Amino acid sequence: MTTLIKSSNEIKKVLAVSERPLGFIPTMGALHAGHISLIKAAREECKTVVVSNFVNPLQFGPDEDFKKYPRDPEKDYKICQEQKVDYVFAPSEDEIYPDDQSKKNIISLPLELSETLCGKSRIGHFEGVAIVIKKLFDIIKPDYAYFGEKDLQQLYIIRWLVKEYNLPIFVRACPIVRETSGLAFSSRNKHLSNEGKAVASNLYKALKAARANIKIGIFTVSKSMLESLIYLSRFPEIKVEYFEARNKVNFAKTDDNAKSGFYFFIAAKTNGVRLIDNIEV
Ligand code: PAJ
Repeated sequence: MTTLIKSSNEIKKVLAVSERPLGFIPTMGALHAGHISLIKAAREECKTVVVSNFVNPLQFGPDEDFKKYPRDPEKDYKICQEQKVDYVFAPSEDEIYPDDQSKKNIISLPLELSETLCGKSRIGHFEGVAIVIKKLFDIIKPDYAYFGEKDLQQLYIIRWLVKEYNLPIFVRACPIVRETSGLAFSSRNKHLSNEGKAVASNLYKALKAARANIKIGIFTVSKSMLESLIYLSRFPEIKVEYFEARNKVNFAKTDDNAKSGFYFFIAAKTNGVRLIDNIEV
């Protein structure tokens, strides 16, 4: 049975007497195959599984799509039922941020994580993510928390958060789930037409090509990225925000002659919808 709970006190009460280990999947709803893969991973190793569904206003900039973000709580609940989730925690904004002051609290993140890639254009985004996750962790107190590698920079931030606050939580990273075209599942794909999705699948093609060019061994990291950018420039609907390489271990900029141990990251707007993706090399 899947129980829907909206109050923090209520979920704290039920979880205090729930079987452990407790697995937690934080989401902003509009659930898709990517989220489902996280739920399945939790279901496999945990006795109790909790999914949160909260579109966190703090992680959206003033010109971003908070209002337009896809919401379908009933469908989300059904998906959670099908996946045998024990509790869906769907708090109101007041429940998470009871007053204006609680929206102003800040967690200072390490700049090398928070001010690069998505952090450059989305000012305050990762601080907003860190705050809501810290609050949700405090309420749910999970043993395991599941995050997708799709939002890899976010995953690095979460790992930092857990270490910084000594939280007794294992962070599980789950691989990116893709449509057959290669396009990574994302709630924002709902804003794309089938044609738009087909165009957007070129982001993954460009990532794969960059990786292949490294593996062949004749291209440097920067030359591989440049080749992929040239490929993407054929599609006028795609406006690339960044294409960068970062080291796996410390998220530093990758040496131009590196052959492995890093990720390529891309962010782009296709038909006005902002999408991100990455690939390990
Ligand atoms: P949301 O975008 O709903 O994503 C919830 C989780 O699902 C994240 O860990 C994300 O990486 C994962 N996910 C999304 N698409 C995926 C895909 N195609 N394959 C694998 N995993 C995927 O990320 C957020 O929400 C929010 O920032 C949140 C962490 C909930 C904080 O508000």
